[in-house]
Parts: sequence; structure tokens; C-alpha cells
Amino acid sequence: MKGIRHLVSVDDLSVAEIQELFEQAKAFAVDLRAHADLCRGLISASLFYEPSTRTRLSFESAMQRLGGGVLTAAEMRSSSAVKGESLADTVRVVSGSYSDLIVLRHSSEGAARLAAQYSNVPVINAGDGSHEHPTQTLCDLYTLWIEKGHIEGLDVVLAGDLLYSRTIHSFVYALARFGANIVCVPHRGFELPPYVVRRLREEYGAEPVRADASELGDLAEESDVVYMTPQKPHQLSLFTDSRGLRVGRVDAVYMTRPQTERHGKDDDLSRSYMKLGQNSLSAGSLREAVVMHPLPRRDEISSELDDDPRSIYFKQAARGVPIRMAILGFLLGKIELKSSPPAAGARLWPVAAGTNPCPNPTCVSNTEERHLQLAFRLTSRDPLRAVCGYCSQEMPIGLVGCSTTRHFHDRDSASARRIRPDHLIFFRDEAEATALGFSAATR
Ligand code: NCD
Repeated sequence: MKGIRHLVSVDDLSVAEIQELFEQAKAFAVDLRAHADLCRGLISASLFYEPSTRTRLSFESAMQRLGGGVLTAAEMRSSSAVKGESLADTVRVVSGSYSDLIVLRHSSEGAARLAAQYSNVPVINAGDGSHEHPTQTLCDLYTLWIEKGHIEGLDVVLAGDLLYSRTIHSFVYALARFGANIVCVPHRGFELPPYVVRRLREEYGAEPVRADASELGDLAEESDVVYMTPQKPHQLSLFTDSRGLRVGRVDAVYMTRPQTERHGKDDDLSRSYMKLGQNSLSAGSLREAVVMHPLPRRDEISSELDDDPRSIYFKQAARGVPIRMAILGFLLGKIELKSSPPAAGARLWPVAAGTNPCPNPTCVSNTEERHLQLAFRLTSRDPLRAVCGYCSQEMPIGLVGCSTTRHFHDRDSASARRIRPDHLIFFRDEAEATALGFSAATR
């Protein structure tokens, strides 16, 4: 519906809007109990298809502190989902007379995007598979802003499972937009996914370079460290030192747990997974670094660090309430922001016909296909490239067809580039194209 703002991706808010939300959260934090009239009479619905402690409880606490009410479906196994109801239908029902806003957590990437398409009320993405978790990012950025006074120019180390952590994916986009430098210290084999790196590079000018991490000491011992800066791409392109870009003083270390529920590699990984303890934080470059974690933690942060003044993960979790009060107040129309929203992002085009070109089996376009109008985003015309409109992963395009001429073309041909986006059809190969009744274009 027109006019509704959703928070599906962290990109749904402009940098200036986020800064205003921080100011608002800071004002709320002075006395969390002093705003019990702001959302009186309004109801938020928590639809949680995956476990949660902090995210759900901090949203519900925030809503109640604003005087609103909360409906909770925290155990969706006890809902009609077990009877086979689609997410689209559930959202249509809950966004009618039941509630004024939906907070959704789901195991499929793109679930919140789908929900937003069917909802009559704002939808907040509280985590969609391994894709994004924008409100955790706002909490993380807010924490950095409070602790450091600014975000631009900070050097933030991201450690652990960068491949599957949705908190990391939303966080890197936001750090890049705020002009912070990102130092990736992944557990081996859990580097940032290629689609995230591509987006960082193409949309935010953050060029990844190998880093000389010798000053990070034990922290980076077993990792191939990558440094990305959206700030100085021109300097990076001149950079020729074969040891890599030196990582000096670090402002924050953001640790993540292995997302074993997404990749199932539990036992071996738990034994070998990186661990932060006093030793790993003893390097001089980390003296001023705050230690963050979205929680829950397992063993990746030793409890010996809990009393270290640099450890701020529990403060970070506490800040989830004021920042979510600001988000709720804004999306429910009770807080006005002066800043402009982000410029409209690249358009989503419907997939015209054929099979689903999204290669990601856990994307909502594959798990909830019954009611879904498949959609894609064109990221480049030459060469022709497109990503799934739900999970953002690149679509493997072998051939492209035109839905009006029923011809197929080489993906890199000039004729393919001339096809209107709303007529484009993607095929993996010729067999698929001919099975769907398309024939080769005459050259
Ligand atoms: C995170 C999540 O659910 O992605 N938790 C949270 O919301 N604070 C991180 C995690 O589960 O590892």
C-alpha cells in the first residue's frame, strides 16, 4: 500500500534518517518509562518462525514502553503454518484488523520482502535466513555512535562466521554507507559471501584488499584478513605493497557465533572455531577496541572477557530497547523525521515466465513459491546481470528470452541487451528454453 514505510533492509533508511533515529533513541534512553503515551492504542504483532530472545523481547518491551500492545506468535509451530498456511496469507490476515505493525523473523531469505508485499501495515525484518537483520544493525551502529561519538572513519573488525551471519550482512552495508572501514577476520571458510562483496564494491565503492594484519596479533592468526574502505578507493588503487594494507588501531571487534543451524557443520566447527580471550585482545592495536557481539554467544567470547571494560556486548543488547522504540515510533507515524528517505533503489521487475531463476534453495522464492510473484533486480545491462529480488543472490543466466517474441538470445549479445526488463526471461540453458517453447533468435 502506498505511503507505508517498511524496514526490510538497512538500506530502507537514509544515513540522515538513521542519525535522527539515534538522537531519538538517546532521548528515549534518558528515561525509558517517560513515553508511555506515544503509541497508546496501537498493536504490534511478533511473527517469529525462528527462535529469538533479545530481538523479540526488546521489540515487545519497546512497544509496551511506548504504551502500545503486543500480539505474540513466537512459536509459529503452534500456528496455522503447520497446517500449511503460506506466509503471504498469514501476513494478509495479521496486517488487517489484528495489528498496526508486524515484526517478522523467518528462516527463508527474502521472507520480509514478501511479507511487505502483502501487508497493509509496516513490516520490520527481524532476521530473514542468513540475509539481513537491519534492526540489529541499527542497535550495533547506535552502540558504536554512543561509544565512539562518530562512525565515519572507524576501523571495525568483523570476526567469525561472516558467510551466514545476517547481522554481519546488514552491518557491512551500513558501515560502508557511514564511511567506516571494515576489516574482515573470518573463520577460515566463512568469508563474506560473494554477493555481499559484490554489492559492497559496486554500490558503496568499498574495494576489498588483502591486509597486513601482523599488528592484530593472535586475533588474526589463522585468518586471511581483508580490509575494505569506502573512504579511500583512489588510494587503494595506488596501493602496491605486496604484504597488504596495514591494519593499525582498531576501534571495535564485532564477533559472531557459528550459524550452525544454517550449515549444519557443528561438532568439528565448535572445536576449531575462533575464540576471543585476553590473549587475542592483548595486541597494542586493540587497546581501545570495544568488543561487540549480537548475542547469543557460545564459546567464541570467553567469559574471562566479561569484566574487561572493552566488552560492551551486554550494553549493546540493552540498547536494543531505546533504538527499537525509535524505530517503532517512526514506522507507526508517531515520530516525524526531517531528513529525506533514501533515493528509490533499483526497481524490482517481475519474472515473466518459466522456472524460478533464483539459485538459492532457502530463498523465500523457492520455499513459498505458491503465492509469489517472482522478482529480480537488474544490476548491470552489459554484461547482463540480475539478482533475485528477495534474497539478493546473483541469478545464473545462461540465455535470455523475450516473452513477446518467444526467442532466446546469448546473454552477452546486443539483442539480449535490447529486451525490455519486463519482457526478460532467464534460462539456465538451451534445453530449458526449448522446453518452455522458446526458439533461437535468428541472427
Ligand atoms: C542474531 C540473529 O538472530 O541473527 N541474534 C540477535 O538477533 N541478536 C545473531 C545470532 O543468532 O547469531
